[in-house]
Amino acid sequence: MIKIENLHKKFGKNVVLSGLDLEIKNGGIFAILGPNGSGKTTLIKSILGMVVPNSGQIYLNGATIKNGWKYRKQIDYLPQIANFPGNLKVKELIRMIKDLRQMPSNEEELITQFKLEPFLDKKLSTLSGGTKQKVNIVLSFMFESPLLILDEPTTGLDPAALINLKKLIMQEKEKGKTILITSHIMQFVAEIADEIVYLLEGKIYFKGSIEELMTKTQQTDLEHAIAAIATTPTHV
Ligand SMILES: Nc1ncnc2c1ncn2[C@@H]1O[C@H](COP(=O)(O)OP(=O)(O)O)[C@@H](O)[C@H]1O
Ligand SMILES: [Mg+2]
Repeated sequence: MIKIENLHKKFGKNVVLSGLDLEIKNGGIFAILGPNGSGKTTLIKSILGMVVPNSGQIYLNGATIKNGWKYRKQIDYLPQIANFPGNLKVKELIRMIKDLRQMPSNEEELITQFKLEPFLDKKLSTLSGGTKQKVNIVLSFMFESPLLILDEPTTGLDPAALINLKKLIMQEKEKGKTILITSHIMQFVAEIADEIVYLLEGKIYFKGSIEELMTKTQQTDLEHAIAAIATTPTHV
């Protein structure tokens, strides 16, 4: 479904992506991992057309994304940093996004699941980080696009919300969706991801199952495997 060829992106002199190739097939949960600043968000934003690469190609279902915006309708996206307009109430923001997307949505269910009812009439500027993140989750899960991209969805969540999020992601996978996700919580990644994509020095350093990664690094848990990966000499 997603094919990326020889992607290059630099910000000034800072080379972030340097000849990145990646193929993501339809259906399943793909975790994009890598150290801070390794270009995970840049890669995600390139797929969304929010970052314009210096060179390289990105195809979605066989078509290049270069010629327009329409392909974005097939994608639901949770941004790592959501800059919500602070003077809007939660319910006003949800309404606004629904009006913009013009698609069927199931926000009520999500509002109940994340216990957001008491916050619907509150202004976004007054919410705690964790509550804002729950709103961010509602906005990205309330539509039914085949591709779901979640950039650090676990940020600031309490354990109950984390369990809810996990359940939600598994439900979306059951519907046949393709889910790209970044997260720093390795236990969360280990529990949900079908495949790991590890970004290092502007390229895909490893792509495969968690079992394959553990074998390659000779580790017995994902956290240690990830820590060991940068010191493992061979590229895959
Ligand atoms: N809009 C931007 N302008 C300049 N530098 C940027 C911009 N976005 C990202 N970067 C830089 O690109 C690198 C990769 O950032 P990012 O993709 O956010 O990494 P990650 O999500 O893996 O932490 C970092 O060095 C960051 O400072
Ligand atoms: Mg990021």
